[in-house]
Amino acid sequence: MRRHELLEQLHDRLAPRTYLEIGVSTGTSMSLSRTRSIGVDPFFRIRRELRCDLQLVRATSDEFFASAGAFEHFGGSAFDLAFIDGMHLAEYALRDFINTERHAHPASVIVLDDMLPRVPVEGLRDRRDARSHGAWAGDVYKILDALRTLRPDLVCLELDTGPTGTVAIFLPDSSSTMLVVAYDELVQAYVVPDPQDIPDEVLRRSRALDPEDLLRSSIWDGLRRLRERPAAEARPEVARLLAEAGLATPR
Ligand SMILES: C[S@@+](CC[C@H](N)C(=O)[O-])C[C@H]1O[C@@H](n2cnc3c(N)ncnc32)[C@H](O)[C@@H]1O
Repeated sequence: MRRHELLEQLHDRLAPRTYLEIGVSTGTSMSLSRTRSIGVDPFFRIRRELRCDLQLVRATSDEFFASAGAFEHFGGSAFDLAFIDGMHLAEYALRDFINTERHAHPASVIVLDDMLPRVPVEGLRDRRDARSHGAWAGDVYKILDALRTLRPDLVCLELDTGPTGTVAIFLPDSSSTMLVVAYDELVQAYVVPDPQDIPDEVLRRSRALDPEDLLRSSIWDGLRRLRERPAAEARPEVARLLAEAGLATPR
């Protein structure tokens, strides 16, 4: 299954009331949204028909998150679904995750793209050196380790999607500061010259779920129901839902 098909199916299962997208480009992923949406990209050039109530922001994600009233379009609500697909460097993806999570409800779902490069050339930090290969995932895969080790409260599922893999994150916590505290140290480790030392588990996708299994799971009705509840009440219920579906244990 390709990432846009996964995203389309997630829109179908979750029926999000609000959708946030970082990295819009020509609008292929945004064209899947039918809901109140915010899309952020300093260089978007839309070439697809868009059929959602959209605020399109021509800015970097950092500028967007720092702006007053960034989320006014959602009328004070959290996002139900977010797709992070902006700059493909680990430090950017980590900031995008941190900033996105601040606007989440425990029943929100965050999808990170390009998390499973298939060959070392796709995981280079310098895009120019990956040009002859075609696909470029960059080194955003690096942030998964920090999410798993520093944020064991999150449920992070690697998904075997084409071309360069996705990670779906459940149980976000808008009040967590763990990643902010660790940010400088993490970035120091991330920003190293190419080639990158990509873990075998990433290249072989040995921990990755078949996205069909996730889509077939029993969690979707519950997530839609629980997002109506206050965050503190919803959190343990979302955790229970994921555990009952066998999704809460890291693979
Ligand atoms: C892979 S494309 C997005 C593709 C789109 N999500 C889709 O699937 O159809 C990545 C986009 O991220 C944008 N981008 C680069 N740096 C960014 C930043 N700092 N903040 C937000 N978007 C950024 C680029 O302009 C580019 O259009």
